[in-house]
Amino acid sequence: MSSSNTIHQIGVVGGGAMGRGIVQLLAQAGHQVYCFDAFEGAAAGAVEFVIGKIRRGVEKGSLSAAEFERICSSIHVCAALSDLAGCSIVIEAIVEDLEAKRQLFRALESVVADTAILASNTSSLTVAEIAAACARAQRVAGLHFFNPVPLMKVAEVVAAVRTSDATVQTLHALIDGAGHRAVITADQPGFLVNHAGRGLYTEGLRVVEEQVASPADVDNLLRDAAGFRMGPFELLDLTGLDVSSRVMTSIYEQFQHEPRFRPSSLVPPRVAAGLYGRKTGEGWYVYDGDRKQTGSPRLIPALSAGMTVWIDPQATGAGALAALASAAGVRCVDEPARADLLIVQPWGTDATTTAIERGLDASRCVALDPLPPFERHRTLMLTASTTGTARDAALALLASDGTPVTVINDSPGFVVQRVLATIVNIAANIAQRGIASVEDLEDAVMLGLGYPYGPLSWGDRIGGERVLAVLRQMQAATGDPRYRPSAWLVRRVGLGISLLTPEAKR
Ligand code: NAI
Repeated sequence: MSSSNTIHQIGVVGGGAMGRGIVQLLAQAGHQVYCFDAFEGAAAGAVEFVIGKIRRGVEKGSLSAAEFERICSSIHVCAALSDLAGCSIVIEAIVEDLEAKRQLFRALESVVADTAILASNTSSLTVAEIAAACARAQRVAGLHFFNPVPLMKVAEVVAAVRTSDATVQTLHALIDGAGHRAVITADQPGFLVNHAGRGLYTEGLRVVEEQVASPADVDNLLRDAAGFRMGPFELLDLTGLDVSSRVMTSIYEQFQHEPRFRPSSLVPPRVAAGLYGRKTGEGWYVYDGDRKQTGSPRLIPALSAGMTVWIDPQATGAGALAALASAAGVRCVDEPARADLLIVQPWGTDATTTAIERGLDASRCVALDPLPPFERHRTLMLTASTTGTARDAALALLASDGTPVTVINDSPGFVVQRVLATIVNIAANIAQRGIASVEDLEDAVMLGLGYPYGPLSWGDRIGGERVLAVLRQMQAATGDPRYRPSAWLVRRVGLGISLLTPEAKR
């Protein structure tokens, strides 16, 4: 039941994937819900589908028969748009087409009361453009749910430039009362969740473009070493590259070619070739039905007898590395000149640059990412001249206790450091631009994207100064303005305060 205690009559226009979920959520929250779809039979089909879903609760014993009857009697199929006349809130979930939405909103204005709120579930259009079709733009807002609506426990209330505070607050209370987290966002491209989620894709693609690692290795690292539920290439295959490619381009265009969101040139040829992902049987991976085919695991070479290693005394994991070497029977030496293998652990710098700066022989040198927990997953990065012998020696040593090791080519910030730094930086800029409050940003990302931490908290855990160092060195190494750090990050690191610290009040 709605905790705001206000029971609304709610119209839902569009009985597709999203409309159905919205009907279910709001009917279960105690509201009277009226569903209309332009295509004959579609609204009835949607309601039947929703009732089937709710019935499962009775079958599982989580819903009483009386409650089921009550919810069913609160869901109504509408034959005409005019049946929505008594609704105080109408939520649109029709086709993603600006002209279709504008026409619908104009038609709705002639049906509902002047005080009724009109909300769009658009994911990519500017809400102000829909509102501009209306006589009363102040009652128009975005209300962006995620699929599947009942399970994705967050919704974005999009305040367009002319949306009134009262409209925003009513929608906030509606979502809150339905048990979802309502986050308020400005009417900016991608709103909050899709904006904050850009970094994983753009930086993952950049890593593959630069031949640092394969898509499967990037996914493995980000899933197993960094803690994402899925890697960017697995996600792209799930969504479909045809759809994701349009989103990447549209967000880049809407942000007036902001380099942080620049799409990768790897994508269009793959879209042209039909490599969409799961739905076409092949994308970044090949699928056997629903199963992703995986390549055979890399063979781990044997440790050679009498091998010696020099571990950079400045390395974050110097102690753990020395213990690993000792357990594997590998002798640690203090002089780089006398060692078969040299191991460094740089932040934001590539292995080659580190070797040159430290006066080390790059052909015997490798780098180990200090960021992921040592016991969980290890990233072994080669210089441009590391020999096969040194690579195999490092792989044998690092895998000697059974911990998975991924071997990558040289990259300032390995894979995990640079992808996380990109995500933190984009989030910092969302905060800097006041697109949402810090709390809403953090919760929206965790609930909408399933990240283990909010992006700014994640930055704090890594250490803001390290994130900043990675970005600055990526920018210096590539000359690419996409890595320029947000003022939000620079200022908080300079002051030594949490990245969660809001702006001072003017
Ligand atoms: P869908 O294609 O599953 O359903 C759209 C429904 O709208 C269909 O039943 C169709 O008959 C009906 N419809 C089309 N034009 C209409 C009109 N002029 N008047 C009344 N009904 C009309 O689409 P889906 O996936 O449910 O998406 C709906 C909206 O939600 C789109 O704006 C989409 O961008 C947005 N959205 C979709 C998400 C998703 O994961 N599918 C996630 C978040 C937002």
